[in-house]
Amino acid sequence: ERLPELLQRMPKAELHIHIEGSLEPELIFELARRNAVSIPYSSVEELRKAYAFSNLQSFLDIYYAGASVLLQEQDFYDMAWAYLKRAQADNVLRAEIFFDPQTHTARGVAMETVVKGLHRACQDARGQLGVDAELILCFLRHLSEAEAFETLEQALPFRDKFIGVGLDSSEVGHPPEKFARVFAKCRQQGLHLVAHAGEEGPPAYVWAALDVLKVERIDHGVQSAKDPALMQRLAQQRIPLTVCPLSNLKLCVFPKLADHNLRQLLDAGLCATVNSDDPAYFGGYMNQNFSETFGALGLEARHAWQLAANSFEASFVDAATRRGYM
Ligand code: HPA
Ligand code: ZN
Repeated sequence: ERLPELLQRMPKAELHIHIEGSLEPELIFELARRNAVSIPYSSVEELRKAYAFSNLQSFLDIYYAGASVLLQEQDFYDMAWAYLKRAQADNVLRAEIFFDPQTHTARGVAMETVVKGLHRACQDARGQLGVDAELILCFLRHLSEAEAFETLEQALPFRDKFIGVGLDSSEVGHPPEKFARVFAKCRQQGLHLVAHAGEEGPPAYVWAALDVLKVERIDHGVQSAKDPALMQRLAQQRIPLTVCPLSNLKLCVFPKLADHNLRQLLDAGLCATVNSDDPAYFGGYMNQNFSETFGALGLEARHAWQLAANSFEASFVDAATRRGYM
């Protein structure tokens, strides 16, 4: 069997996907028209041309602008459904999907509208697509601790509709410690905990995500390779890293895909996984991430099997379900 076919057909879990980052330009324009929201681009082509980023912040500015067309419950449903169909096409059996409620509540959209629309798409995906999808609520780290607490209060009435919380947005200058008390409260609620750390930020942010926030997974985490003691900790405790190669390339975390450290992470015995992050903005869903990265790094079939196994090991499915997937 050729490697491209193996990468396509192997069952996999996606653990690092921001649903707002799956909003394709075509759907942005459709929703803008449907909701009579004006956007500062005259065409799909013009919008796509703006997708040239120099770092995380240059992406976030345009990502939040794109999300401004989402107003009704059906809009959130349509966005999530489009992603879930793409996931199915890439043989993603399990998806743990981030959403950023503060991007929407700040514009006057109710938490209920966001959560119900996304959750209904996840429920339909199980029956109609065979994709097992769950939601993870992310706090925006450039906003305050108080705003994160307020967001958690708004979300707790829908506690049964999300399985965990995460931390995203502008990393440098907003270390994990800022959200220590918020995560402690989430932990008491029995929520799973993850956080973006070591995307652009230093290894110290990964340490703090583990020791202060007590997260179960690190999102990105590629800067961990700069700290041998941290690498040893991640390997020994099998703490998963949800790596996003095309995202790292587009946000200039690595100058070329061939410079990406995924192989180094795997060789060091880490539970690294491959994910798409914001596929509409970074040029590819899961299989694109796998195939381009394997090509650039010269990875082989054994790496493919390892990454697929890692993705289910790192997921929050129960042990019995996991055996069924693997
Ligand atoms: N990093 C931080 N925040 C984000 C990202 C990311 O890669 N994608 C969407 N929000
Ligand atoms: Zn991310």
